[in-house]
Amino acid sequence: MSSEKTLILVKPDGVARGLVGEVISRIEAKGYAIDALRMLQADRAILEKHYAEHIGKPFYEPLVEFMMSGPIVAIVASGNRVIEGFRSLAGVTDPTVAAPGTIRGDLARDQGTKVVQNIVHGSDSIESATREIEIFFPSK
Ligand code: RTP
Ligand code: MG
Repeated sequence: MSSEKTLILVKPDGVARGLVGEVISRIEAKGYAIDALRMLQADRAILEKHYAEHIGKPFYEPLVEFMMSGPIVAIVASGNRVIEGFRSLAGVTDPTVAAPGTIRGDLARDQGTKVVQNIVHGSDSIESATREIEIFFPSK
C-alpha cells in the first residue's frame, strides 16, 4: 500500500521569518518523508485554485493578498496518516490559542492583520491533498 501524502505550504510569514528549516525539521523529526519541495511566488490564479473553497468569504481577498506578499515553500510529505498528523503538528488555525508545542502555537501570534497569519497550510482530507498536490506539483 502506498503511503498517504499531504500538501504543506510554508506561508509568506514563515518564509520571511526564516522558519522554513524549523518547519521541515518538525516534519522530519515526526518521521514523515519529504517527497518534493519547491519555493515559488504564488500568483492569483494558483491561489484561486488552492483556496477555491473560501471564495466569497470575508477573509478571502486578504488571504490571497497575504499569500502573494512574498515567496512560499510548497512541500509534499508522506507517511501513514500524514494528513491528520501534520494538522496536529500545525495546531489550530488561530495561533493565539494554538497549543504550545505546535508550529502555530510556538511560532505565531495575532499580528492584528485582516487575515490570520499562521506560518503553514496543511491539506485537510485525502481529496484536498490530491487536488492541492496537483496544483503545486502538476506532474507528481
Ligand atoms: P490552512 O488551510 O491554511 O491549513 O488552515 P486551516 O485549514 O486551519 O484554516 P482554513 O479554514 O482552511 O482557512 C485557510 C486560511 O485562511 C486564513 N483564515 N483567516 N477569520 C479569519 O481571519 C481567517 N479564517 C481563515 C488562515 O490563514 C487560514 O489558515
Ligand atoms: Mg484549510
